[in-house]
This record gives sequence, structure tokens and C-alpha cells, in this order.
Amino acid sequence: MTAQFQIEALAARHDRKSFSCGVFPLDRYLKEQAGQDIKRRAAMCYVACPQDFDQIAGYYTLSAGDVALKDMPEDVTRRLPRYPVIPVARVGRLAIDTEFKGKRLGAALLWDAANRARRSEMGVFALAVDAKDEQAAAFYRHFGFIEFQSKPQQLFLPLATIAKSA
Ligand SMILES: CC(C)(COP(=O)(O)OP(=O)(O)OC[C@H]1O[C@@H](n2cnc3c(N)ncnc32)[C@H](O)[C@@H]1OP(=O)(O)O)[C@@H](O)C(=O)NCCC(=O)NCCS
Repeated sequence: MTAQFQIEALAARHDRKSFSCGVFPLDRYLKEQAGQDIKRRAAMCYVACPQDFDQIAGYYTLSAGDVALKDMPEDVTRRLPRYPVIPVARVGRLAIDTEFKGKRLGAALLWDAANRARRSEMGVFALAVDAKDEQAAAFYRHFGFIEFQSKPQQLFLPLATIAKSA
């Protein structure tokens, strides 16, 4: 499926206006906020486009973050250093245009985010995601993401886990 798409950093030539995933705040973010966040280095935004088209079939944002060690399950923290916080790469938003849903593009963007985090030259323990609701959380759990103890709508996947299964 992804052979039909290219995943690249959001640029001026991409058509943000026609993007529609059915969740208004996620559509609005791409149209009104993503460019500002990139300019200020608050978040990067990557888009999937059908080959040779500027149409946006899906996007996600990626930024640096950290999570408190105390929020992680004990079987994970047992193998971690006793730092108060652990570094993560955070997917703040992920959305697929209604026309392209169910074609494994969401999975491809998640995999792309994990690979970018893994290639980073900084220490990054996990990919963390913010799920906007239970349905989104179920999508992430489908890929093995684990819920934080006190924040069920925030989940994480240790990058070492992905490296093993890749
Ligand atoms: C959630 C979303 C990103 C999924 O994207 P998608 O491209 O339609 O999903 P995919 O085709 O890549 O699905 C990959 C797998 O996840 C499964 N899946 C999809 N949505 C799921 C859900 N809500 N719960 C559980 N599994 C789900 C699919 O069945 C598929 O399973 P498979 O690996 O066995 O084939 C998309 O529906 C969307 O943009 N929703 C609105 C915005 C949103 O909720 N974003 C989430 C973060 S806030």
C-alpha cells in the first residue's frame, strides 16, 4: 500500500485545504496550525501523499517529549534507570483523510514515526501517543501500545520492542 504513497515533511506545495478526516480539530490543525508549529520547531508534521500528487491522504505530528517514570507500568520501569523522567518521541496527532481510511495508511504513518524516532541520534526510549478518544486508543493498542498508569488516553511503545519485531 505505501508504495503508492510518499511520506514527507509538510511543505507549502501540499494541499491542506481539502484534507478531511471527519474530526474537525484535526482538520483545522493541519490547515491553520501545523505550519506555525513547524516554523517555531514546536512539532514536525509529516504527510502521506499519493505518488506525484500534492493531495494529503494522512498526516502526523512528531515532537520531543518526556514521561514520568512513575506513570509507567512496573514491568517496564524495572529495566530502566531511576531517572524521574524518560525521553520519548511524541505523536501528538495522527489522521487519515476519509477517502483513504482502512488502507493501512494509519499503520504506515505510525511505523514511519517509529522509524524516525529510532533513527534519531538522541536517546529516545519510546514512541508516545495522545489518543483523542477510546476508539483512537484501541487503534494504538492494536499495535501493542501500552497505556500509562494514570492516563489511559496516553500510550507508549518502547522502541526496542519495535526493533525486535522489525
Ligand atoms: C484511527 C485512524 C488513524 C486509523 O487509520 P487507518 O488508515 O484507517 O487504519 P489502518 O488501515 O492503517 O488500520 C491498521 C490496522 O488497525 C486496525 N484498526 C483501525 N482502526 C482501529 C481502531 N479504532 N481500533 C482497533 N483497531 C483499529 C485495522 O483493522 C487494521 O488492522 P490489521 O493490521 O489487522 O489489518 C483513522 O481512522 C483516523 O484518522 N481517525 C480519525 C482521527 C483519529 O482518531 N486519530 C487517532 C489519533 S488522535
